[in-house]
Amino acid sequence: MDTTPDLNKPTEKPTGVYSLEVREVRHYTERLFFFRTERPVEFRFRSGEFVMIGLPPEIQGSKTVWRAYSIASPAWEEHLDFYSIKVPGGPLTSKLLGIEPSDHVWMRKKPTGTLVHDALIAGEHLFLLCTGTGIAPFASIIRDPETYEKFEKVYLIHTCRERGELQYGYDLVDEIRNHEILAEIVGDKLVHCATTTREESERTGRMTDLMRSGQLYDELGIKPLNSQTDRVMICGSMAMLQDSKTLCENAGLKEGSNSMPGEFVIERAFVG
Ligand code: A2P
Repeated sequence: MDTTPDLNKPTEKPTGVYSLEVREVRHYTERLFFFRTERPVEFRFRSGEFVMIGLPPEIQGSKTVWRAYSIASPAWEEHLDFYSIKVPGGPLTSKLLGIEPSDHVWMRKKPTGTLVHDALIAGEHLFLLCTGTGIAPFASIIRDPETYEKFEKVYLIHTCRERGELQYGYDLVDEIRNHEILAEIVGDKLVHCATTTREESERTGRMTDLMRSGQLYDELGIKPLNSQTDRVMICGSMAMLQDSKTLCENAGLKEGSNSMPGEFVIERAFVG
């Protein structure tokens, strides 16, 4: 019997997987894009969690390739947002970047992850450190009212190579400032600090270097990381995770997890 899938026919999705209609696609730069899908009514997640995303074989052109994607929309939204890099020759993203509204993507039903409030103990200031598409889980966290119930100040610190790559972050903060309900909840608690490394901008340099030198704290008018008051969530490349973890540990902060909440958390699902 021939078991080769007929790629012209929609394939039946496996169990434990949603087939989600794409509602919107935005290409930010040659390397970065955003897509929005419908959200199944029964699908629940905590802001900051990730899911596995793939394409049906008829779009993938072969067996489904699964990759971890943070849900970039908050838990209360009626749709699901994702923010993706385009990896040249990447088995999933080289196909995913061609999706258009009304296409379908596949999503495994079980969300998970450590960049969640449950993995942090109480504090006063929340630092969200991210590079590139590492901003995605924080796009969810900064629009979650729980964040502002738990923290007095939230610092979203984002480093990218070029200015165009910061746009998604600026759009998010604009959206919050103009949102009927969120604007009031967030007030002046959210501070957005964006830096670039390969193009001049308002603030140039890796966040980690700017934190080590103290320049970033001085410019924001705040004190350096302190384990009594500060909590940190980190999302980026392996090198960035390692450097940021060292910064936290040098300041006396201890790593947390869902089972043992701590003072900083890292998401390792996207690297490697
Ligand atoms: P750089 O240009 O100095 O490499 P990428 O797009 O390659 O994932 O990188 C996103 C951003 O993360 C870039 O601005 C990059 O800076 C920065 N970056 C890379 N490694 C580190 C690190 N160890 N600590 C902080 N930022 C980093």
